[in-house]
Amino acid sequence: MDKFNDELHEIVLSEDGSFTAYSKEYDEHYHSTRDGAMKESLLKHVIPAFKIKEYKEEINILDICYGLGFNTLATMYYHKKNSLNSKLNIYSPELDATLISSLKNFTYPKEFDEFKHIVLELCEHAVYSDENFHIEIFLGDAREYVRRFENKFDIVYQDAFSPSSNPTLWTLEYFADIKKAMKKDALLTTYSIALATRLALYKNGFNVYINSEEGIRKSTIASEAKLQNFSLVDMEHKIFCNKDAKPLRD
Ligand SMILES: C[S@@+](CC[C@H](N)C(=O)[O-])C[C@H]1O[C@@H](n2cnc3c(N)ncnc32)[C@H](O)[C@@H]1O
Repeated sequence: MDKFNDELHEIVLSEDGSFTAYSKEYDEHYHSTRDGAMKESLLKHVIPAFKIKEYKEEINILDICYGLGFNTLATMYYHKKNSLNSKLNIYSPELDATLISSLKNFTYPKEFDEFKHIVLELCEHAVYSDENFHIEIFLGDAREYVRRFENKFDIVYQDAFSPSSNPTLWTLEYFADIKKAMKKDALLTTYSIALATRLALYKNGFNVYINSEEGIRKSTIASEAKLQNFSLVDMEHKIFCNKDAKPLRD
């Protein structure tokens, strides 16, 4: 466990018993320590997304950003646990190449034990493929990476550090690029419930929904198509009540 710690990262135990990390560079944890790393991945990203997309034969996922890889690993865990037959293609940008290679020393929850060989392959080659899963980590800037895609993704996990510590991954212009990369019936999940985030999504033509799973704080779902499974946020009312509110800009 100690081997994971370096001058920029420190391993930290979160509330649900899974380990996350603290970034000294961003002065922020990789997950909410209160909600727990594993619970956050499953309940704010994977479960709400698969509620809508589970029926598909092939699912393309954009995982922003890879970090410790919880969202990618929790997606594979959910897929196996529910005996899904779909082919999953996961594309994930990550700026920190040193972090990726250090993940072989990270202490993951036992639910990920069966993916140890995949973690090792990703640490070494940043790519893994078998009959069910294709995973690619792009070692570079997410802003540049998302512009490569058009009408490609069914699901986007928007899980960058917070808008205050990593604003470039939350702007109106960034979400415009994300929207172009998404299919018309795709959905985006994010832990952020900030009005500025929801405005950046809404002003790009997304409907904004509340994800409320038991035992975890609320989060946001965005989709161009109307969704039945989540309650819609009345954005016009929010704008009316918060006249000075603005999305972040580049
Ligand atoms: C909150 S963490 C992601 C947590 C991750 N989803 C997980 O489940 O472990 C944010 C990550 O974004 C990376 N990052 C920050 N700016 C980036 C950028 N412009 N492009 C790609 N990655 C970036 C950081 O290095 C960090 O690993």
